[in-house]
Amino acid sequence: MKIILVGYMGSGKSSIGQQLATRLNYTFKDLDTAIESSEGANVTTIFSEKGEIYFRKKENTVLKELISSSENIVLATGGGTPCYGNVMELLLSEEDCVTVYLKGSVAVLTDRLFLEKEKRPLISHLETKELLNDFIRKHLFERSYYYNQASLKVDIDDASIEGIVEAILLKLL
Ligand code: S3P
Repeated sequence: MKIILVGYMGSGKSSIGQQLATRLNYTFKDLDTAIESSEGANVTTIFSEKGEIYFRKKENTVLKELISSSENIVLATGGGTPCYGNVMELLLSEEDCVTVYLKGSVAVLTDRLFLEKEKRPLISHLETKELLNDFIRKHLFERSYYYNQASLKVDIDDASIEGIVEAILLKLL
């Protein structure tokens, strides 16, 4: 079985994924980390030296490698992963994959991302919280079309990581 966490940057895919994997006794995988080790460079460097299109192609290839393994995994995707090519369609068609959308509001995502935007090339240039908020509102609206296709949806705004993990476990039963 593969539990695939999707959602906007800052929605907690990696921290929630790690705890969920521990609870299920599955292996945790992080797509950005897998791309970084395959490229020998971090996401910011890949974006600046090779461009976003290169990153998206690599993201697609590494995702396919990860979901083709026979291992039980919890996979934290990148915020853009399900929004390019036919990724969402592919994930929904794989019998052993369950997609989970970690749904955050624009306000909560803005607060979180303002503190950690430097390592995210798509938003690192946005100087003020207002600019970041405007960007996220529009971007999340566009991406929600893909995120909302996930099999399960969990709200992240008012819950702790433990609470979100419990909510996912309950929905998986
Ligand atoms: C991206 C999200 C990032 C990373 C890259 C692009 C996006 O992952 O893949 O910076 O397009 O939303 P996180 O969602 O883990 O920040």
